[in-house]
Amino acid sequence: MEYTSTVTQQTTANTSIDDRFLQDVVAGLTSTPKHLESKYFYDAQGDKIFQELMNCEEYYPTNCEMEIFTSQTAEICKAIIADGDAFDLIELGAGDATKSTQLLKYLIDNEADFTYLPIDISDNVISYLNITLPVTLPGIKIEGLNGEYFDMLKKAAAISNKRKVVMFLGSNIGNMQVADAEGFCKELRNNLSTGDMVLIGVDLKKNPATVLAAYNDSEGITKRFNINLLERINRELGGDFNTRQFDHYAMYDPETGSCKSYLISLADQEVKIGQEIISFQKDEYIYMEISQKYAVEQVNEMAGKSGFKPLDRFFDNKKWFVDAVWTAE
Ligand code: TRP
Repeated sequence: MEYTSTVTQQTTANTSIDDRFLQDVVAGLTSTPKHLESKYFYDAQGDKIFQELMNCEEYYPTNCEMEIFTSQTAEICKAIIADGDAFDLIELGAGDATKSTQLLKYLIDNEADFTYLPIDISDNVISYLNITLPVTLPGIKIEGLNGEYFDMLKKAAAISNKRKVVMFLGSNIGNMQVADAEGFCKELRNNLSTGDMVLIGVDLKKNPATVLAAYNDSEGITKRFNINLLERINRELGGDFNTRQFDHYAMYDPETGSCKSYLISLADQEVKIGQEIISFQKDEYIYMEISQKYAVEQVNEMAGKSGFKPLDRFFDNKKWFVDAVWTAE
């Protein structure tokens, strides 16, 4: 028995979250084609594997954005401080906040009047930030929010009526199809007021081989990251995936800019998840994740289409990644 009594208790207390996970997994694996939602990658184990991925040679997006945040901290902060009024700095999908810590430190050192509100789907991430940031950044006002982006954004709006600056980094926007990304930006705009700002990180189109290598790394970290979701289903939903019967496949299409990850069933097989039996045919795929890459012009277009005005933008020296600042019109 893997579960300790503490885990079992937590599972009981979080029944609705577990039910949701089960429903989403079963819905995804019984549809055609089969798919799983990428927000479920990030349990404690997934967070750890993602850390490894961010440190690996081929996975460039984190390093590019980190370079932007360390080399252009003052400029980015100047853009978001604007005329110096108090503001709420909201981060959607904060992760370990390594990148935003650069900004937070600068803002604190320069006595900007702000509260940091990190939002993340992982409760693990939020409790970590709530505990560690006040130690690494003395004087920070922080209120971590654990939940889905727009639910928590509404909660944040109810906490104060200060100007909002929403950070959406790491090219999280790329984890949506282009049409969904536009819908997302529109919904984001609807949750903001005129004059509020967005700081959005977008991974740009580049040499296709460079993109593909980042999603098909030679050490197999991305493969483990994908397989971990099957393991999570085994751990939390009593699934019986034999993970050796699945392989990882990644592809990048330079024309559309979409990079996709799949798990391929290596045999005809049946997997039990709760009461459900899911059949897989040999070579059948589970669509796991999209990471959409954009041309620079498309980023401005996206702002315009969703009710924002492009204000500023910051590139790494290879121009592989952009952090754009938009104002809500
Ligand atoms: N979604 C992130 C990205 O697009 C993290 C990621 C990298 C990822 N490789 C992945 C998520 C493979 C799922 C599967 O860069």
